[in-house]
Amino acid sequence: MNIQRVSTGIAGLDTLLQGGFIPSRSYLVTGEAGTGKTTACMQFLLNGLKKKENAVYVTVDERPAEILQTAASLDWDLQKYVQEKSLVILDASAYFSGLAVGGAEKGADLQKIISDLAAYAKRMAATRLVIDPVTPLILSGDSPARVQDIARALMHLLQSNLTTTNLISSHLPRGFDHDPTNGIEEFLAAGVLILRVNQTNGRFSRTLTVKKMRGTSVEPNEYPFNIVKGSGIVLASPELRPAAAETEESFHPLEFFQLPKEEPEKDPTNT
Ligand SMILES: Nc1ncnc2c1ncn2[C@@H]1O[C@H](COP(=O)(O)OP(=O)(O)OP(=O)(O)O)[C@@H](O)[C@H]1O
Ligand SMILES: [Mg+2]
Repeated sequence: MNIQRVSTGIAGLDTLLQGGFIPSRSYLVTGEAGTGKTTACMQFLLNGLKKKENAVYVTVDERPAEILQTAASLDWDLQKYVQEKSLVILDASAYFSGLAVGGAEKGADLQKIISDLAAYAKRMAATRLVIDPVTPLILSGDSPARVQDIARALMHLLQSNLTTTNLISSHLPRGFDHDPTNGIEEFLAAGVLILRVNQTNGRFSRTLTVKKMRGTSVEPNEYPFNIVKGSGIVLASPELRPAAAETEESFHPLEFFQLPKEEPEKDPTNT
């Protein structure tokens, strides 16, 4: 059976993902500060909004006004969709900073957040949802086991309460040297995208890795990308070559030898 995929909105990534995300599932985009997570989230929503879909953006670190400003700096008019009511931006910072009224019990908060979210999504018949970033919610657990419990509960609540396709961002501490997603993603996501800023010989470059994508065959390579005004994240195209291949290409110590093409022998009877 061929499922209609949901475009990620990222030029080049849909090709890698055989059309995009599988609908009604949750995907994680993770990376250090400034690697492009918010850009990816906006791009995903904008792709749907342009097709007259409705969307919900849950923001945690930035105020809704800042989100609109960030979008405007990339030449994206999210404000228009807010005015048209096809986009709802929900500010969840109160929940995450523990300031929510009656929010003493974190487990109850989680359930309340997701049921509030589900109500919004249902009321406006949203097809796409972003939580940017989810990390403060997940890390509200006081031990690794508790964090995993919360992550699993969140996953379950999202899957059972929402029919939207979800892109959830999580930030990594700088220089995190072990599994960057800290094991959260195995409960949370049907797929994991890792964004990085690499430094080689004093030059910075951005890369995207598809670490995991259920139901989709994809090479776990690092793909270079740029953030471009008006387009957002744009993967190096058209070949979508992995980052490693790019450095190899710049230096060719061995030249491939090809036999010269032989002239076809003339047929003596055909003269
Ligand atoms: N208008 C723009 N044009 C080109 N690049 C931009 C523009 N605005 C931002 N950027 C670049 O995009 C990068 C990624 O920004 P983004 O907010 O998506 O990162 P993030 O991963 O969400 O960061 P954080 O972890 O702090 O939330 C910025 O660091 C900046 O270099
Ligand atoms: Mg961000």
